[in-house]
Amino acid sequence: MKKPFIFIISVLGVILESCYYDNEVYLYGNGSGAVCDTATVTYSATIAPIMASNCNSCHTASSGNGVITSDYNNLKTIVNNGKLLKSVNWTAGAIQMPLGGQKLPTCTLAKINKWVDNGALNN
Ligand code: HEC
Repeated sequence: MKKPFIFIISVLGVILESCYYDNEVYLYGNGSGAVCDTATVTYSATIAPIMASNCNSCHTASSGNGVITSDYNNLKTIVNNGKLLKSVNWTAGAIQMPLGGQKLPTCTLAKINKWVDNGALNN
């Protein structure tokens, strides 16, 4: 009599599992209740504009503090040394960016993290 019971528990497990959407859109949102679309993140359409409006004012070739966020190759340097994500995610011990400002919105951070997860492509 034990086998049917185990079978029913397994079926229930599968059904319950399917109710959980492990999806960045659902996990992060964009803070306004609207859906945060991280599926189509690219350097040119997503990341470059984020850098332009939040970072480039302090991080161009002429005023960079050694860090340049305004072109792909220099941005890739701080992706590779880990400083981009640490600074924007406000990882403990990191220098928090934007300096003196507010943490970037959750959806913006989700996009930056996704782009890096995808290999920080120049796309
Ligand atoms: C108001 C000016 C300003 C803005 C805006 C700003 N930064 Fe910075 N950033 C600085 C300064 C100044 C430093 C050097 C801080 C230090 O060494 O204490 C710095 C340092 C950094 C560093 C190096 C941190 C380290 O650990 O060495 C990174 C990476 C960085 N910024 C990325 C960014 C990114 C990404 C943005 C946009 C989200 C941004 N910054 C926005 C001024 C700014």
